[in-house]
Amino acid sequence: MDKNRPIGVLDSGVGGLTVLRALQRVMPSETFLYLGDTARAPYGVRTRETITAFVAQMTDWMEQHQVKQLVTACNTITVLGTDVIRGSHTFPVIGMSKGVDQVLKATKNKRIGLMATDFTVSTGAHRNEIKAADPEAEVFGVGCTKFVPLIEGNRFGSPELKEAIGEYAEALQEKDVDTVILGCTHYPFVREYLEEAFGPEVTVIDPAEATALQAKANLEARNLLQTDGAGRCTICFTGDLEKGKLLASRMLDTGQCNFEQVRL
Ligand code: DGL
Repeated sequence: MDKNRPIGVLDSGVGGLTVLRALQRVMPSETFLYLGDTARAPYGVRTRETITAFVAQMTDWMEQHQVKQLVTACNTITVLGTDVIRGSHTFPVIGMSKGVDQVLKATKNKRIGLMATDFTVSTGAHRNEIKAADPEAEVFGVGCTKFVPLIEGNRFGSPELKEAIGEYAEALQEKDVDTVILGCTHYPFVREYLEEAFGPEVTVIDPAEATALQAKANLEARNLLQTDGAGRCTICFTGDLEKGKLLASRMLDTGQCNFEQVRL
């Protein structure tokens, strides 16, 4: 395979851009092809069957674009399992890290909060991985359903967002957690607000960088890491392009990116 092929990155919407940022930092010479299904986000309130069907359309699209690796920059998709995501495609799939190492390093009281979509929380995927590494750890999941529509809707600073932040932070503070995992890639968009609501005694963990390092290790092992490329990036959305660009500019240096609207 040619190392000049792009790395595919996908998400239900703009959330995966928080992972794309980490991927670009870790692999600055790579070419990235991002696909956000903004026309149909959020995914996290949908059924497993629907999410699986949408993901199959996205992975077919990635195959047509000849990616050398696919990063599912979405926890809701990742928890479907690598085999389901890959289907009959040949590219390797790198899912979102659960942040287990970071979490266990940060926690002192072993009481850990998980903020994620309803679907992700319902699978118990984070809890299972953390408890496998440390059976004494307790994981408290909160489905933060209100966040994705507010983030996709560019409603930063709105009273609705403030209220949702307060509601979800309080639910976890009641459990006396000292560490919180952002188990949805949209949530780093509101990380500052969350850190403010939790205060300094709670460590907020974003597993984006751990995921990017796994992606890099996979390419290195396959001898496909690009080290002298120009670091190009194409960002595709199924929904409104101007809104997508505006949100992307909160996360990335968009001067280096091409934007396209696509149909699946
Ligand atoms: N960004 C996604 C995640 O990591 C999905 C959010 C959604 O579409 O509900 O879970």
